[in-house]
Order: sequence, then C-alpha cells, then structure tokens
Amino acid sequence: MKKIAVFVSGGGSNFIAIHRQIIQGNILGKIVMVFSNNPNCGAIKFAEENSIPIFIINAARYPNAHTRDEFLLETCLKAEIDLICLAGFMKMLPQNIVKHYEYRILNIHPGLLPEFGGKGFYGTRVHEAVINTGKRESGATVHFVDEIYDHGPIILQKKVEVMETDTPESLAARVLKLEHELFPEVVKAFCENKIIMENNKPKILEYNEN
Ligand code: GAR
Repeated sequence: MKKIAVFVSGGGSNFIAIHRQIIQGNILGKIVMVFSNNPNCGAIKFAEENSIPIFIINAARYPNAHTRDEFLLETCLKAEIDLICLAGFMKMLPQNIVKHYEYRILNIHPGLLPEFGGKGFYGTRVHEAVINTGKRESGATVHFVDEIYDHGPIILQKKVEVMETDTPESLAARVLKLEHELFPEVVKAFCENKIIMENNKPKILEYNEN
C-alpha cells in the first residue's frame, strides 16, 4: 500500500477522482496528507470532510520560504510518503522535494505537453491558447516532475477533439473529464510498481489502451 501526499490549489476534482478509486479498492494506496497554498479551496473542504490531514503552506503561514521547504520535506519524510501527486497545484514545487522524490512526483496538465506548457500555461489559459492557435486536438498529460515547470518525462496522455464551437470553458470541461480517468490510471500503475524507466522514458508495464 503506497502512501500518497496530494498537493492542491483549486476545486480538487482530480484529487477526488483519485480518492474515489482508492475507496473503491482499485488503487493500492492511501492519501495520507494534503498540502495546499489555498486554505479556502474546494479540495481542502473535501479533505476536511474526509478526515485527511491538511497542511497549508502559503506565505501567510510561512513568510520564510526556506523554513516552509524544510517543513515540507520533513513532513513527507516522517510520513514515509511513497508518491506525491500534484492535482491542480498552481505553484512550483520546492526544489528540495523535487530532488528527493525523483520519479515519485506526478503532475497532471490540462494539455498535450510539450505544447502549451511552462510558465503561464495553467488552467483555462491552456485551453484559450489551444483554441486561439486553431488546434484540432487537445488532451491531458501526466508526467514525472523535474526542476523545470511542465518539463519532466511524460508517462501517459489522452486526447480529445477540439470542436469548432468550443469555448475555453467547454474544452476545459471535456479535458477535465478525461483527466479524471487518466490521473487515477497512472496513480494505480505507480502503486502497483508498473511504471519503469526504459531508455530514460517512463513506460507502463502491461498497459492496454482502450
Ligand atoms: C486541472 O485541469 C489540472 O489539469 C490543472 O488545473 C485543474 C485543476 O482542477 N492543472 C494545471 O493547470 C497545473 N499546471 P481540479 O482542482 O478540479 O483537479
């Protein structure tokens, strides 16, 4: 059973999707703590309702970023965290965490990386850019996190068609639905030790696309 820490900033629908698959017994893991920069987000409300320990890591609580980063790593080490999931976390993860948990941090991105990623590309901005550049296809990506924003090795992507009539909001909704399948799928594979690195690329063992 893998111990999972989830980082969130918003509504938390990806966090909830992973939690649901755990409760249903499909993922061999347990969400043991939730970190957020935003104490008032939906994800934190859900964590509270489900008695999952919460840690708020914003500048109000930690005026000193170094102290915050030390606390974060210490807390994860003490809890013997196996996996970190960034489920709509809109901040850069501290470098000490990124270094310590290499190939053990997953991020979900609402676009087909490496396109439409990097600084400034998050949430609705990704969908606006996809529509504005006339792309016919978008999707979602789960990748390992490295020191560079949205840059780490891609594990799995799923695609959706972009319709002529799409607005950023309608596209976001369609992509988000896909994210709720994609992210739990990758977390499940990780918890079963089925993600391996082959020639510097992640590979999911026994993966059947359907
Ligand atoms: C999701 O679409 C996720 O891919 C995106 O934020 C949304 C969070 O929704 N993440 C990023 O843009 C990270 N750069 P949720 O809080 O309902 O899971």
